[in-house]
Amino acid sequence: MLNYDNKIILAPMVRIGTLPTRILALRYGADIVYTEELIDWKFLRSKRRINDILKTVDFVDQTDGTIVFRTCHEEKDKVVLQLGTCDADRALKVAKLVENDVAGIDINMGCPKEFSIKGGMGVALLQNPEKAFKILETLVNNLTIPVTCKIRILDTPEDTLSLVQKLVSSGIKAIAIHGRTKDERPQHPVHPGTIKYIAERIPIPVIANGGSKEIEKFSDILKFKEMTGCSSVMIARAAEWNCSIFRKDGMLPMDTVIEDLLRLSVDFDNPPANTKYCIQNILRELQETPRGRQFLDSQTLEQMCTIWNLQDYCKEKQKMYQGLGIQGRWQVTPSDLEPPNKKSKLANEVNLDGVIQMQVCFIRSNYNDLNLPKSQLHAWAGKNGFSLPIYQTRQVEKLFQTILIFNDKKYTSTFWEKNKKFAEQSAALVCLYHLGLKTKDDLIKLGSLL
Ligand code: FNR
Repeated sequence: MLNYDNKIILAPMVRIGTLPTRILALRYGADIVYTEELIDWKFLRSKRRINDILKTVDFVDQTDGTIVFRTCHEEKDKVVLQLGTCDADRALKVAKLVENDVAGIDINMGCPKEFSIKGGMGVALLQNPEKAFKILETLVNNLTIPVTCKIRILDTPEDTLSLVQKLVSSGIKAIAIHGRTKDERPQHPVHPGTIKYIAERIPIPVIANGGSKEIEKFSDILKFKEMTGCSSVMIARAAEWNCSIFRKDGMLPMDTVIEDLLRLSVDFDNPPANTKYCIQNILRELQETPRGRQFLDSQTLEQMCTIWNLQDYCKEKQKMYQGLGIQGRWQVTPSDLEPPNKKSKLANEVNLDGVIQMQVCFIRSNYNDLNLPKSQLHAWAGKNGFSLPIYQTRQVEKLFQTILIFNDKKYTSTFWEKNKKFAEQSAALVCLYHLGLKTKDDLIKLGSLL
């Protein structure tokens, strides 16, 4: 059972707290890592799948095949999944889905963003202690793993304490306190005194948060711990900027951290856009340098790796994964959609007799703007005196499939894509293959063959 006493923790951070960053933080010395906030109703659209190739557990959104949450054995006993929720039953349903894959569940009661507040989540729960209590109590009573919550302070230490006491009575194992009010922004000073006031008065570990502005090295974490009288500390921005802040032996240069993050991103086949975002937040103002601008132009992991001389590592690993059958995404069809919906009947009404079918997907990151399948097909058609193809796309929920009509023949991919553009491109790939303009090897190299 995860113990929250005397721990240095990676704080939840949207888009930053994905698997590569979490593993990096653990390897640098963090004791516990929180996931980014995951919204309960979005999570409920996902299905658990074991990924034998990456050795990960993936929760895959059944409406578009994207991965909502990826985790692995290395973090199993140290990862806490943070949920955004306003509903006890929904929160429990999600927690039950992941109960055997994570070490703890945390409820976000500190997010001041409009999206959270309008949905009754985040700091909205601080104004509704009964509901906050109900969510925590429901989880505590029905889960085998520990439950925590992360809050902001209220206007006075006394008000904060009475709220915390109510939450603690639900049976949670620890509480993270961000020492700012809901209206205070990151540049405002944190209030360590209020955190201390609470920590001295409640029986469970308080995890102090909000000190990054003054945290520049490991010993500053210990100072913040001391100042707040807490048993544990949670770090967000200082780790976002340089994750080696968790190293007791001293911080590493920014480039080393980026290289380590890139290797993990390749290892876990992390979406390039997510890796790019994380590195942008490490580079910060250095994005304005020539190398920074080169980085901003990059789209694929290989392009990013090249800037830090890791292109061979990336190529070899990606080649190995492709050889093993990794496709970057999972296949999801309308019949997989849960719950079954009326619209999916539409999918069956289209007659695919006589349509040349093949299961290929379109991976955008494997193309530049000039060599897209549609561009290749259109150029070939023009050169050989054919009319341009016609594209007929149908949508079921958030999935798309295109029938491409070219030279009196129809082509389609049985892989349902997440948008219309991708569906057209994958239908064009089927057509190119049947015209002999792409070989099976080409499709494998493009990560398209399923
Ligand atoms: C956050 N924070 C945050 N908090 C939370 O409970 N769930 C979340 O998903 C996020 N997301 C997030 C993203 C990014 C990019 C940042 C910078 C912050 C808030 C964070 O966990 C922490 O409470 C504050 O940043 C204060 O701590 P530091 O940064 O002073 O250590």
